[in-house]
Amino acid sequence: MKWLQLVPWVAAALAASVSADDQGIGGAGGSGPGFETVPRVPFNGNDSLPYSPPFYPTPQTQGTTQKWKDAIGKAREYLQQFNQTEKVMLTTGTGWSRGPCVGNIAAIPRVGFPGLCLMDGPAGVRGTDRITSFPDGVTVAATFSKDLFYRRAHAMGEEFKTKGANIWLGPMNNIARTPEGGRNWEGFGADPYLSGEAAHYSVLGMQDAGVQANIKHYIGNEQEHFRNEGSTNIDGRTEREIYLHPFLRGVQAGASSAMCSYNLLQNSWACQNSEMLNNRLKTELGFSGYVLSDWGAQHAGVASANAGLDMTMPGDVTCCTKQTGSLWGGNLTTAINNGSVAETRLDDMATRILAGWYYVGQDKGYPKPNFDFFNQRDPTVNGFVDATKDHWKVAREVAAAGTVVLKNKRHALPLCKPDRLAIIGSDAGPLYQGANYWSDRGGWPYGTLGQGWGSGANEYSYFFSPYEALQARARQDRTDFQWNFDDYNYEQTEKIVTNVTAAIVFVSALSGEGYITVDNNEGDRNNLTVWNNGEELIKRVAANNNNTIVVVHSVGQVDYESFADHPNVTAIVLANLPGSESGPALASVLYGEVNPSGRLPYTIGRNRTDYGTDVLYYNDTVTPQINYTEALHVDYRHFDAKGIEPRWEFGFGLSYTTFDYSGIWWQQVGQADNSWWGDKTAADGLPEWLFEPLYEVSFSLTNTGERDGHEAWQAYLSFPKSAGEPPKVLRAFDRTELKVGETKEVSFKLSHYDLSTWSNKQHRWVRPEGKIKVLVGASSRDIRQAVVLH
Ligand SMILES: *[C@@H]1O[C@H](CO)[C@@H](O)[C@H](O)[C@H]1NC(C)=O
Ligand SMILES: *[C@@H]1O[C@H](CO)[C@@H](O)[C@H](O)[C@H]1NC(C)=O
Ligand SMILES: *[C@@H]1O[C@H](CO)[C@@H](O)[C@H](O)[C@H]1NC(C)=O
Ligand SMILES: *[C@@H]1O[C@H](CO)[C@@H](O)[C@H](O)[C@H]1NC(C)=O
Ligand SMILES: *[C@@H]1O[C@H](CO)[C@@H](O)[C@H](O)[C@H]1NC(C)=O
Ligand SMILES: *[C@@H]1O[C@H](CO)[C@@H](O)[C@H](O)[C@H]1NC(C)=O
Ligand SMILES: *[C@@H]1O[C@H](CO)[C@@H](O)[C@H](O)[C@H]1NC(C)=O
Ligand SMILES: *[C@@H]1O[C@H](CO)[C@@H](O)[C@H](O)[C@H]1NC(C)=O
Ligand SMILES: *[C@@H]1O[C@H](CO)[C@@H](O)[C@H](O)[C@H]1NC(C)=O
Ligand SMILES: *[C@@H]1O[C@H](CO)[C@@H](O)[C@H](O)[C@H]1NC(C)=O
Ligand SMILES: *[C@@H]1O[C@H](CO)[C@@H](O)[C@H](O)[C@H]1NC(C)=O
Repeated sequence: MKWLQLVPWVAAALAASVSADDQGIGGAGGSGPGFETVPRVPFNGNDSLPYSPPFYPTPQTQGTTQKWKDAIGKAREYLQQFNQTEKVMLTTGTGWSRGPCVGNIAAIPRVGFPGLCLMDGPAGVRGTDRITSFPDGVTVAATFSKDLFYRRAHAMGEEFKTKGANIWLGPMNNIARTPEGGRNWEGFGADPYLSGEAAHYSVLGMQDAGVQANIKHYIGNEQEHFRNEGSTNIDGRTEREIYLHPFLRGVQAGASSAMCSYNLLQNSWACQNSEMLNNRLKTELGFSGYVLSDWGAQHAGVASANAGLDMTMPGDVTCCTKQTGSLWGGNLTTAINNGSVAETRLDDMATRILAGWYYVGQDKGYPKPNFDFFNQRDPTVNGFVDATKDHWKVAREVAAAGTVVLKNKRHALPLCKPDRLAIIGSDAGPLYQGANYWSDRGGWPYGTLGQGWGSGANEYSYFFSPYEALQARARQDRTDFQWNFDDYNYEQTEKIVTNVTAAIVFVSALSGEGYITVDNNEGDRNNLTVWNNGEELIKRVAANNNNTIVVVHSVGQVDYESFADHPNVTAIVLANLPGSESGPALASVLYGEVNPSGRLPYTIGRNRTDYGTDVLYYNDTVTPQINYTEALHVDYRHFDAKGIEPRWEFGFGLSYTTFDYSGIWWQQVGQADNSWWGDKTAADGLPEWLFEPLYEVSFSLTNTGERDGHEAWQAYLSFPKSAGEPPKVLRAFDRTELKVGETKEVSFKLSHYDLSTWSNKQHRWVRPEGKIKVLVGASSRDIRQAVVLH
């Protein structure tokens, strides 16, 4: 019972501190891990501060597709009934805690408009009951499956709709630029193409379920420290090729809305940055929907209106306390009347908002919110409406498919009716004070880790720990099953792991959103080691059991060096952040009912300094400059370019079967004319032909092993040196199912865009001179087939 005795003093010392305004703002900045990790490097070698050029006015929404044109047409027609005050009401949230949802747009009875309910979070409906806690973004990314991206989002969408939430505040499209980034787990990993496809299929799945998606956080919000005062500085090519790409794919899926972020981008607030909103998003990408502010990210009424913001959230002057007054609302009316904001700008805001609503068909019989985020357990305001259907099935499928087997020696896995099994570590067991003890999951983990912390978390309606699922399985197999959840009671651990068939040690690492600090981690992690004494625990178990299996639940990269090569550590399984179905999903992989196919959505390095990027923890000015000086060299692009040997590379993951790649070939399927651009630049909007396919590449995939399974194949491009690209960039992937002995022909298309790089000088996408190589394989460093396009 030592574990239990530990709790009071540990809890006192390590309890989470939640800032006074406990939602989505404030927080991180100032303290950190005790060393300065990022050397001061001037952005682009230029000592004057980066600057964002003006771009006005906001383009009127046109509609890039017939579906958008129809929605905009309906919006314009309906808007004729609205008077000016009512148009302003569409743009301005009712204020924090003035309505049942995280964000609310008031109903307008005179014209029959029912209002809008905006809800977090990216992995399930936040702050309510009878919902499914789906696997987090990092976990679904690890599936490398477009089908699962879609089905997870569609099931989640059904829950948002059942609860009466109009807008899903997801997907999260920021890139895991630094392993320490606090909110990395909400997003889809470190590669823009993987994130882009995940964003694309998530938007499609969500919106097909009738719920508006919201691509966020636009843009450059890759760390929590200084997210409310720092300027992210990104050069034009890096911005387009890495950070903008997932937003482009979200726009192409028809996302109804986008969320501008807290930070500044080239020293201009993201929610009043006319270059990024009016030009990049609404002109270059042709975004037809509306831009809403992150909660409290609006800093000026007139400037944001003219720069392209369409909706302010939650509507108050500052976030997030109950108050009166808004930078918009009555102030927007005044600004229009005194000529600071054009009436046509208000019309465009309102048109975009109504168009997003029509686009997903919310004008017809959409449920009203039947819960209250601010009074979650009060039956007078909560209907406790069940939204779950059988969504546990897809949640479990994603959690299992997103489990990555990193090491498997001496046939440690799959487990086969072991005689005696011991499981060790607090991360194996149920959450001691209940699954929802810590507000927004932001606290020291006395129990298994299923989600990160912050507004991206949701309330578990139930949560199966690994212990529960593995014990059920042990009974079925008549396995003797012992456990110890006390991370510090070595005596008991050593006793139960000695002479048993296998010992499974569970360890975890956490991070989250910067408004909550856990053990001095202000959102971003201070280090990459596992928490809860994990390294020592693994060491103790491995010293006493020659079949030690390590299971890791983590928000992102951890340091595996102290145990990865240990001869008694026979297997390492990265279960990421699995949500409610944690235990059953893990058991299905450990016992081989599911053949693992999960792949790393980021590189695991041997040393923190190997990553080449880190969080900026310290400021010497009031507007800290977060310079993305590594440019394109993020994650594997950096390891490849610098020749650094990772522990495990991007895209890596083991299977219980083997796959053979063969017979690669390609054909041209489109016009190769490269003169279409003429005098045009991206300022005219990206042309349709850019996204038309030029080549189709095919290869054969055979299951050559003894188990049915899925292979998450990947295709990388290798550009000619003169293109200035990293050695390899991902351009296609998917997860293909193959029975034993089965062969399938796999094909993918490459568009003009896929084969282009961004030219800062010409301000457009250009086709590099020379030949492009296509590399197909099982990871970014396990290339099995190559072909040159010529
Ligand atoms: C970022 O670059 C600017 C110049 O563009 C420089 O003044 C500043 O010191 C740099 N900041 C850091 C943290 O490297
Ligand atoms: C430095 O950047 C500023 C702002 O972007 C620009 O005006 C200036 O010309 C640049 N200087 C050099 C030497 O590149
Ligand atoms: C617009 O309509 C609202 C009712 O929805 C009414 O209260 C308001 O006075 C009207 N405003 C104007 C400017 O007519
Ligand atoms: C207008 O904005 C100011 C802050 O700039 C705020 O104090 C005031 O309450 C706002 N007025 C209205 C009507 O919302
Ligand atoms: C117009 O109104 C807005 C909102 O109240 C205010 O911020 C701005 O200063 C006013 N501008 C002029 C020129 O009066
Ligand atoms: C592992 O230990 C068991 C006894 O617990 C022993 O029977 C077995 O041979 C050992 N295996 C290896 C590979 O050392
Ligand atoms: C484990 O088995 C060995 C024989 O292989 C025995 O000597 C030892 O006492 C056993 N350990 C425990 C803790 O029972
Ligand atoms: C890393 O951070 C965790 C959580 O704050 C802490 O428990 C652990 O002691 C730290 N590890 C090291 C090596 O500092
Ligand atoms: C591996 O485990 C065995 C017990 O099975 C132990 O005797 C041995 O010392 C361990 N090896 C290492 C390197 O810790
Ligand atoms: C990690 O890299 C740093 C800086 O290069 C070096 O000082 C340190 O010894 C390395 N740590 C390990 C464990 O290799
Ligand atoms: C660093 O940022 C904090 C806000 O997080 C600010 O209060 C402080 O003044 C800044 N420090 C300097 C030296 O500008």
